[in-house]
Amino acid sequence: MSNVVLIGFMGSGKTAVGCGLARVLNYKFVDVDELIEKKQNQTIIQIFENQGESAFRKLETDTINKVVQEDEQVVSCGGGAVIDKRNVEMLRESGIFVYLKASTDVLYQRVKNGNSRPLLNVANPRKQLEELLHQREKIYERVADVTFDTTGKDVNEIVDLLGEEIKGRLGEKN
Ligand code: S3P
Repeated sequence: MSNVVLIGFMGSGKTAVGCGLARVLNYKFVDVDELIEKKQNQTIIQIFENQGESAFRKLETDTINKVVQEDEQVVSCGGGAVIDKRNVEMLRESGIFVYLKASTDVLYQRVKNGNSRPLLNVANPRKQLEELLHQREKIYERVADVTFDTTGKDVNEIVDLLGEEIKGRLGEKN
């Protein structure tokens, strides 16, 4: 299987980079959160509010299970998708993991003005970001086949550099 699975914290650029990568690889772009929102006909915020985080996590796993049935996709996962080992197993079988890494400062700058991320709608979002990142960074690093540091690079640069690297990797795998 040759999917490219983008992982990384909220604000790491998975959606923007994923769209660009799909274009250069001639793959379909799939955003797991977007599929969940469409299926539920609710935003992620509403799902967290109405059904709670554990219900969201179940929807996330169900959606990933469907997504991995298809090939030649760039899959953008929500930042918490890798916490559940079942998700990691399913996604690993379907292709390669690419971790988009960014510093706490960069991530905070990118997410601080939005309100679409329920886990950061708290009194001290910066502290929450630091704590969650600390917990998850190890998982991202461990799971990743490719780790790409996005610091100081714009989306086009990231897409160009990663596109070349991934083409090489997919070539090796096939
Ligand atoms: C989450 C990240 C979000 C979304 C949900 C939970 C997380 O996706 O899945 O709000 O646990 O980090 P993005 O990483 O695309 O913001």
